[in-house]
Amino acid sequence: MLSLSFWLCLLLNLVVLVFSAENFTRDDFPPPSLFVFGAGTSAFQFEGAESEDGRTPSIWDTFSYPVGNLQGEKGKKTCDGYHKYKEDVQLMADTGLEAYRFSISWSRLIPNGRGPVNPKGLEYYNNLINELTSHGIQLHVTLSHSDLPQVLEDEYGGYLSRKIVKDFTEYAGVCFREFGDRVLHWNTFNEANIFIVGGYDLGITPPQRCSPPFGFNCARGNSSTEPYIAAHNILLAHASAARLYKDKYQDRQHGFIGINLYTIGFFPYTNATEDLIATQRANAFFIGWFANPLVFGDYPDIVEKNVGKRLPVFTKLESEQVKDSFDFIGLNHYTTSYIKDNPSSLKMDIRDFNADIAVELIVKGDASMTDEYPVLPYGLVEVLEYFKQNYGNPPIYIHENGQQTPYSVGLNDTSRINFIQGFIGGLLDAVRNGCNARGYFVWSFLDLFELLGGSQFSFGLYYVDLDDKDVKRYPKLSAKWYSRFLKERSIKSDGAIEVEKNMSGISQSHLSQ
Ligand code: NOJ
Repeated sequence: MLSLSFWLCLLLNLVVLVFSAENFTRDDFPPPSLFVFGAGTSAFQFEGAESEDGRTPSIWDTFSYPVGNLQGEKGKKTCDGYHKYKEDVQLMADTGLEAYRFSISWSRLIPNGRGPVNPKGLEYYNNLINELTSHGIQLHVTLSHSDLPQVLEDEYGGYLSRKIVKDFTEYAGVCFREFGDRVLHWNTFNEANIFIVGGYDLGITPPQRCSPPFGFNCARGNSSTEPYIAAHNILLAHASAARLYKDKYQDRQHGFIGINLYTIGFFPYTNATEDLIATQRANAFFIGWFANPLVFGDYPDIVEKNVGKRLPVFTKLESEQVKDSFDFIGLNHYTTSYIKDNPSSLKMDIRDFNADIAVELIVKGDASMTDEYPVLPYGLVEVLEYFKQNYGNPPIYIHENGQQTPYSVGLNDTSRINFIQGFIGGLLDAVRNGCNARGYFVWSFLDLFELLGGSQFSFGLYYVDLDDKDVKRYPKLSAKWYSRFLKERSIKSDGAIEVEKNMSGISQSHLSQ
């Protein structure tokens, strides 16, 4: 017999078929002055050159090598953006990108985490920014993409200490001062929520902290308390940097500042009241944990209730400072999950973030390590609707959305085209329905060094030949599709583009791995 979830999925898919925009062009969206299309990268994943020109390690370096999950990958070139940025910016311009999202490596710009600025770091980012500006590409810059300087982690435990607020604000201030004449969109933290869950509850991402019975054998940490403490300090650090920007720079630089969250489209597993309430709870924990303080000045009631004394409390002043400390929210979105009530976890003596939510998460097509993501744009539509209904429809950038494929897929990435096309169609529906989305960035512009998968998996529109001494770039089918969408402004949903047959020049080893 077919399960209820099967019928539920079928129904939702049919709804999407009926309601998703199918034939659309770039011009169906507002013009670039109001809505931008771009693609993104992040410093650690793009730059390489990890010990060049004065850069010091970040917590991501420590996680990746030599004890992390990427043993043996050290020394392997990433796409080497540090040296090839000019060529890449040219590629962006040729593709027709209206905007580029990238991050600054804190430990490249300020190697000691605080204090003197590294002239070489300054020079690199000035060069990159000037190159982008001269090609008319809008800049969206993230200040922290999971790559806190290791020196601050060692000195005082990074985000577990209030000291981070001052150091992050000073680092942000250097960026506003040095680059703010050309950068109009600042994002403080990437995936603030999932950075915390991965790094302080499960211990599967930097700084790899967790405690039994939760997580995966961390050497240190406390999964019950640390996620909430670190999240609290990230909110305070964000608010402090945003205040500096608004007080000192915004009037003359005319830019915007926001924060980025990871989102999952949550749907009740059944229409039983328990599952509907459990779905609200999942949203309150994943989104409300950050969005409620940012919009209302405090955590959601259900988070306060379930976490209890382990949840830090905002003073009146802090609450005022966090509230309204953003001009936009950035969202990363890849998947959808079904939510089942799981009240038993609340009976546990010791609880972590997951136990506090008290739900069972049934992921639809988990692409975390192997598969490709299923194309479920209604999840994104639901998330945008959630922000519209619950948070007063703030300006939103879709900072990341894209398809993971094994590196071996090479250039013929039709599944990536289907994914991007499906989500852009869903986004158009949401925009037509009054959601305040202002931009969409494909993740990623080119193949990068993945946090969990190193160079086994790729998200790029451009293929990077890691076996070639010049790490040459090649357009995948998806790059051609996106470029046509951006430039010709007339692509239809069935607008298959000719499959690239000429793969000569690419080391076959990577294509057939
Ligand atoms: C989100 C992260 O921000 C990015 O660094 C990563 O590459 C993608 N997810 C894909 O895993």
